[in-house]
Amino acid sequence: PAPKEPNEEKLHDRLPAAVKSAGAIKIGVDLNYAPVEFKSQGNKPDGLDPDIANALGEVLGVRVEFVDTPFDKLLPGLHAKNYDVVMSAMTDNRQRREGTDETGKQVTPGVDFVDYFIAGTSIVVSKGNPQNIGSLDDLCGRTIALQRGTTQAAIIQRQTGACEKNRKPMTVKLTDSDAEALALVGSNKAVADLSDFPVAAYVAQQGQNGAQFQVAGAQLQAAPYGIALTKENSELRDALTKALDRIIRNGEYEKILNKWGVG
Ligand code: ARG
Repeated sequence: PAPKEPNEEKLHDRLPAAVKSAGAIKIGVDLNYAPVEFKSQGNKPDGLDPDIANALGEVLGVRVEFVDTPFDKLLPGLHAKNYDVVMSAMTDNRQRREGTDETGKQVTPGVDFVDYFIAGTSIVVSKGNPQNIGSLDDLCGRTIALQRGTTQAAIIQRQTGACEKNRKPMTVKLTDSDAEALALVGSNKAVADLSDFPVAAYVAQQGQNGAQFQVAGAQLQAAPYGIALTKENSELRDALTKALDRIIRNGEYEKILNKWGVG
């Protein structure tokens, strides 16, 4: 643990009473997105997000508990109070803050975010890039796979229209996890998967189940990752904001980023 500054405020005092009495913050996360979050040997939550969450818990003086949940079920589970927050490489954007769909109609309560990282989207293809994909337009007329409920799914929904206009419709296979989408690329049932850049860079380096991949083209739409909370939970939001500020100042945050190669 990092050395304490003199006169450091006790952040535990800032926590909502319910969290103090539980002694833990419960976190919804889709543990299928290495290196940001995954299950290590023994099914233990591991990766960038769990490490940051544990560091936040340490300065707040509470445990953190992870509730493994498919990505598209994370915000419904937050509103259902299955956990206190979502921390799952989740992009902070207007739709999620407002709870609106593509057409701007409110479909669910909005959420608050505490931002902690920045990442864009990358296109992942088989190693060697056999179809010579370099941009979203190159996906027209092809079959692609990606995880449902993600910002990538929103990007592709817009691209679907562009492809149709050019009379080269795209076939989109939506999967429950990014790993499943990647497996479809590995078995040539899809030509590309879209995922966050840190995940794309990791699979390009590690492969998955013997299949090899590479990143195609430039990173798109860099945006913050945020810890999501219901709008009623401003006390916990403010405590987490202070805790994050502290682990940034004491160097713990940077250490974690470097450990996962995203510093
Ligand atoms: N950043 C993207 C989003 O917010 C993808 C996150 C996917 N996370 C995961 N654990 N599978 O939609």
